[in-house]
Amino acid sequence: MSHVALESVFDVTAIRRDFPILDKPLPNGLPLVYLDNGATAQKPRQVIEKLVECYENYNANVHRGIHALGDRVTTELEEAREKVRTLIGADEVEEIIFTSGTTMSINLVADAWGRKFLQPGDELLLNEMEHHANLVPWQQIAHERGAVLRFIPLTADGRLDLSALDDVLTDRTKLVAVTGLSNVLGTINPIGEIAAKAHARGSLVLVDGAQSVPHGYVDVNCPQIDFLAFSGHKLYGPTGIGVLYGRRRLLEQMDPFLCGGNMIRRVRKESSDFADLPSKFEAGTLPVAQAIGLGAAIDYVQGIGFDAIAAHERQLTERAFRQLNEIPGLKIVGPGVSERGSIVSFTVEGVHPHDMAELLDRRGVAVRAGHHCTMPLHEWLQVTATTRASFAFYNTLAEVDALCEAIQYARKVFRLK
Ligand code: ALA
Repeated sequence: MSHVALESVFDVTAIRRDFPILDKPLPNGLPLVYLDNGATAQKPRQVIEKLVECYENYNANVHRGIHALGDRVTTELEEAREKVRTLIGADEVEEIIFTSGTTMSINLVADAWGRKFLQPGDELLLNEMEHHANLVPWQQIAHERGAVLRFIPLTADGRLDLSALDDVLTDRTKLVAVTGLSNVLGTINPIGEIAAKAHARGSLVLVDGAQSVPHGYVDVNCPQIDFLAFSGHKLYGPTGIGVLYGRRRLLEQMDPFLCGGNMIRRVRKESSDFADLPSKFEAGTLPVAQAIGLGAAIDYVQGIGFDAIAAHERQLTERAFRQLNEIPGLKIVGPGVSERGSIVSFTVEGVHPHDMAELLDRRGVAVRAGHHCTMPLHEWLQVTATTRASFAFYNTLAEVDALCEAIQYARKVFRLK
């Protein structure tokens, strides 16, 4: 499909009108070119209005108040949970646990499953492209339980080397933790192949969906995965809300993670019985308005459709690839464009990534620079930092051009030929 054809089907101009922040000039008067969507996505009016609706009309605690507001807010929250279930194709709504975000979701599994089921010598299979949120919790529980961390090697272009999978996956592997989409390399990982091999060995599979869920269909039954973690704020929803999906059988076997109100059935002086799913893992007051806002975000992205989102983001990524590759001294990290999502990280010879981000900011282009919470990956890349542009469906081809022009401006500031 040509650019013109797709942009007319997709109507990015109309979509941008839903995002008030995209239209607001920056303090220096320049228009905002927001290319830091991997860190957090902007919010459509529909999500912002849902939060306001909640606080103005039915703010109360959920599953507690025997009054009209309590009933309404509980209904809204449970409707949001059902929207999450539909989004990821889960069988049962009780398999959807609300958390504060991806980090808490993974910590929950590492703690509540790992502490109970890991034995000394058991193995956890990771890889070097994982975000710290899908690495550090496993390090901690492995140290505590005497488990061993193993790593799927990476290919030279930053994909998982599946030819090594049969060596690193053993009968002692208890869980494979893998990102759906690398937040630096942009690599889309072949979850189906990994899950099939892991399950054949009797291992569980946890997918970090922080970067993948906002950009395409994720179905927890195809391929079959056991745990899925993701955040609301990268899915155009509010901050402070995330999701852990887990298979009912596993969640039921696990002990609680946080303890307190809402997660109990009966409390005696010396011991307690715990609530059924999902409350067992939802101690304390939930981020109620945020969960309801996440429901509105899901409605919004589903209204656009993941096929259209993926097609538009592919165009943006392809154009970025073509143009960035023409800039002298610029090196993109990660695989070719056909094997990645809408994330492009790079280095430019002679300009430190932090300086690059600052100079891009002067031109109104917002990107992220640093190690992006992936220090082992940057060690593997043999650089201390990269600059990352990450695209969302509301970005335009003109914004990709603005990024490239701003990089050329940065090169001029550093007097690079
Ligand atoms: N995990 C987010 C990122 O990669 C914050 O930018």
